[in-house]
Amino acid sequence: MLSLPRTARVNEVVARDGFQNERQFLPTAYKISLINRLAELGVRKIETTAFVSPKAVPQLADAEQVVRGINRLQGVVYSALVPNLKGAGRAIACGIDELNVVVSASTTHNQKNLGMRVEQSLEQIRAVVETAGTRTRVGVSIATAFGCPYEGEVPRDKVLGLAEHFRALSVNALTLADTTGMAVPDQVYGVCRKFAEVWPELDLTLHFHNTRGLGLANVLAGLAAGVTSFDSCLGGLGGCPFAPGATGNICTEDLVHMLEGMNIATGIGLRELISLAGELEQSVGHALPGQVARAGTRWDLHPKEE
Ligand code: COA
Ligand code: ZN
Repeated sequence: MLSLPRTARVNEVVARDGFQNERQFLPTAYKISLINRLAELGVRKIETTAFVSPKAVPQLADAEQVVRGINRLQGVVYSALVPNLKGAGRAIACGIDELNVVVSASTTHNQKNLGMRVEQSLEQIRAVVETAGTRTRVGVSIATAFGCPYEGEVPRDKVLGLAEHFRALSVNALTLADTTGMAVPDQVYGVCRKFAEVWPELDLTLHFHNTRGLGLANVLAGLAAGVTSFDSCLGGLGGCPFAPGATGNICTEDLVHMLEGMNIATGIGLRELISLAGELEQSVGHALPGQVARAGTRWDLHPKEE
């Protein structure tokens, strides 16, 4: 029998990863109300936006208005992605709880995504940690941690080396991001076991994209290795605009459905989540890749007789 944790935290990234990859600019008021409703239905960590260049990601040009406009529920951590010190300053000025600073494990993706060499990003992260001080938590996301669409395989030691660097900086949390869905389950298990061995007290999150249909299999591998925190996106929206072939994150309602089906408590109302995904589909104006919203849950039975 698989030995799995009894609870897991599902972090919602629709307002950042989801909306950054949409063609259209979603209204600020809609973003705010979506974040508020996700918090109300039990999501405990929400990535609200990204404080990036509005030229790079015009879809999130309203970052300040979004963060200032949300109703901050107690017990919910509101985070935002930042690429550099300038972004961190903007986010801290809005009173964000946690900064999610991003750097890629592969040189080429870092250059395409952030216009910087990895060493320059590390310098930015050092400055962000210093600026955040003890007021604001700092997490680091390592993008392309399981493979790079330009460079292919990313050696595990490269990811571990970066992590060691962040540990020395006393960052509060780390996310391993599979930016374009290149991870496979035994790789995920191996990396996560290694992290548990070398950095057991780490607050580790896994961020999977379902680009090649391996998203939930990778979650299971992470769970089996003892990881209890996963990023996901309502409806399965999402993707990095600076990585060729990038598609949606793992879908939040599909993830919650799988976890609750295995009696791993998430604290999130699945039915409300599914109805929110339905509204999201209307708002973005195209079909979403999530499956449970379409099929119904495994607990929804059909009449035996017509
Ligand atoms: N927020 C807002 N504006 C920013 C900014 C930030 N965090 N960082 C830089 N800028 C501005 C600069 O002030 C400058 O403005 P100006 O043209 O009015 O003088 C302009 O952006 C260019 O600055 P520069 O330092 O030369 O940056 P760049 O053009 O090389 O872009 C990033 C670097 C990091 C700002 C940009 O690549 C970016 O925002 N990337 C985000 C990518 C992303 O979100 N990917 C998906 C998530 S992983
Ligand atoms: Zn992502």
